[in-house]
Amino acid sequence: MRLLFVGDVVGRAGRMVVQETLPGLIADYALDFVVVNGENAAGGFGITEEIFMDLLDAGADAVTTGNHVWDQREALVFCARHDNFLRPLNYPAGTPGKGAGLFTARNGGRVLVMNAMGRVFMNPMDDPFQAVQRELDAAPLGSVSDAVMIDFHAEATSEKQIMGHFADGQASLVVGTHTHAPTADHQILDGGTAFMTDAGMTGDYNSIIGMEASEPLQRMTSAISAGRFQPALGAATLSGVAVLTDDSTGLALRVEPVRLGGRLQEHIPAFWIEQD
Ligand code: FE2
Repeated sequence: MRLLFVGDVVGRAGRMVVQETLPGLIADYALDFVVVNGENAAGGFGITEEIFMDLLDAGADAVTTGNHVWDQREALVFCARHDNFLRPLNYPAGTPGKGAGLFTARNGGRVLVMNAMGRVFMNPMDDPFQAVQRELDAAPLGSVSDAVMIDFHAEATSEKQIMGHFADGQASLVVGTHTHAPTADHQILDGGTAFMTDAGMTGDYNSIIGMEASEPLQRMTSAISAGRFQPALGAATLSGVAVLTDDSTGLALRVEPVRLGGRLQEHIPAFWIEQD
């Protein structure tokens, strides 16, 4: 199966590059399932239902989030209307919405998608490892599910790598989000799980993690706030990671980053282009 994960979409610039390029990627490279992290899609903070629907129209099969999931308060309500809108699994019991779902891919395969959040340098949360293991046990890879994609939204590189090794052999992909800079460590772990510490953001890289640079620069150098953070509006890069799975085991055969548009060096996975 051909899977694509698209890193945190930031603001209008990020939404535009998704709308302009994702439909073509899905058609040209026969992508079976696409997950997009949309937690910063509405002006950098949260996501509205309209923007969620726009991401689906562009080809997202499921949308994951993270610590900003409720920044647009309407998400507390619309999360119940959409099975493919995921918030972190390890929020307290009783939190609206859900953190995992089993979906049907374009090739007919079953894809388990989950979203969990880290605890290092972040707000206290339930144990993400236990939460992920419960979902893995409910739809094991290679029997109930044909692919498993885990978006681990976390600050610490180490915690993201621990999740990769924790789920190794049980997932097709473990990818980190939240830090908004793509890492160059995409690899297939020993148990067959594709891993990348951070997918990077889908936004304008002439910025501070997607935000127009002047205000963060001012705040950090003077400790005086002069206004709100505004998303940078220059040409955005779609940044993410692509995986080719073995149809019999659901484990990864290939993994490569995807970078398109904007100012980062373009990268289209070789296995998308190679003839079968
Ligand atoms: Fe985040």
